[in-house]
Amino acid sequence: MDGSECEVPGSLKKSVVILGVETSCDETSAAVLVDGTELRSHIISSQIVTHQRYGGVVPEIASREHCLHLQLVVQQALDEAKIDFLGLSAIAVTYGPGLVGSLLVGVSGAKAMAYAAGIPLIGINHLEGHIYANFLHHQDLEFPLLALLVSGGHTHLILFETHGHYQVLGHTRDDAAGEALDKVARTLGLSYPGGPEIQRVAREGEASAFKFPRAMLEPDSLDFSFSGMKSAVLNTLNSARMRGETLSVPDIAASFQQAVVDVLVRKALLALERTGVKTLLLAGGVAANSLLRETLDKELSERSIRLVYPPPIFCTDNGAMIATAGYYHYLAGDFAPWTLNAVPGLGLV
Ligand code: KG4
Ligand code: ZN
Repeated sequence: MDGSECEVPGSLKKSVVILGVETSCDETSAAVLVDGTELRSHIISSQIVTHQRYGGVVPEIASREHCLHLQLVVQQALDEAKIDFLGLSAIAVTYGPGLVGSLLVGVSGAKAMAYAAGIPLIGINHLEGHIYANFLHHQDLEFPLLALLVSGGHTHLILFETHGHYQVLGHTRDDAAGEALDKVARTLGLSYPGGPEIQRVAREGEASAFKFPRAMLEPDSLDFSFSGMKSAVLNTLNSARMRGETLSVPDIAASFQQAVVDVLVRKALLALERTGVKTLLLAGGVAANSLLRETLDKELSERSIRLVYPPPIFCTDNGAMIATAGYYHYLAGDFAPWTLNAVPGLGLV
């Protein structure tokens, strides 16, 4: 070891205790996880109210908020877990992808804490964190797995071969599903983040009221495209406005939500059929969507394929998923150097 790497802890510690830190976007979150299953504490300080007045996340404000809250959130997580830094085995932190300023706050903070405590630092890919949220409540998952990762920044179909080994089978060529939901919601006058708002308003609407397109791309493609679907909604709204008509917001929300879910489900089924994988993991903020969960539940039970998804709070950004991914990195002895930096455009492979 040349001083640039973390020291691997001695074998005296019985439990593996990971502090997970997440600051990639607009949530400052920390969690203490024992042996990969026992979540001792989980603190999320959300900036949603701060960003709501701008209709989306303002990066500069997000990083300043992380600076203000990180230390408090970590201290609260340690207090609730009734542990101090010396009781930790390692600190796992998201280092990308995400907003560079936000990531830097978490990475710098985690580095300082781990160095001062004399414990290893673990760098976690945010996308990997989302997928690992599934392992928090399901340790019995058997590889190979297929993951449908749907968030505000990503829409990926991933073949998860074994711990640390991923193959991206398909991804969005333009907007992510969550991004499209957020943009349509904004046009409908709904607040940020738009996904949960669309889901809420859609309950009062009719999903067959508008026939929005389903972009399936080439017949065998596992890629996605949501930008044209989003534009179709915006065009429908603009045409109605020009005619002086007012359209039903719940009907538009329900019809668009249905279109997005239809595409996600059809592509997931195609990927399952092609790979022969028998378990689908849902991950990312949009995985909290009840229509997506219910539709996949129905489709997959008919095909004897297992569907696994985290509780909604572990679908959106959180420190527990980072701690869970960190636990598996810890077992593999996969520690980060002290030179770990934020990588805003980090890919999964
Ligand atoms: O994973 P996440 O918290 O952040 C990113 O990594 O992007 O995902 C946020 C996205 C937002 O686009 C939000 O509108 C969407 O997840 N989202 C939902 C729901 N909850 C959050 N979309 C549909 N239905 C939901 N219930
Ligand atoms: Zn995320």
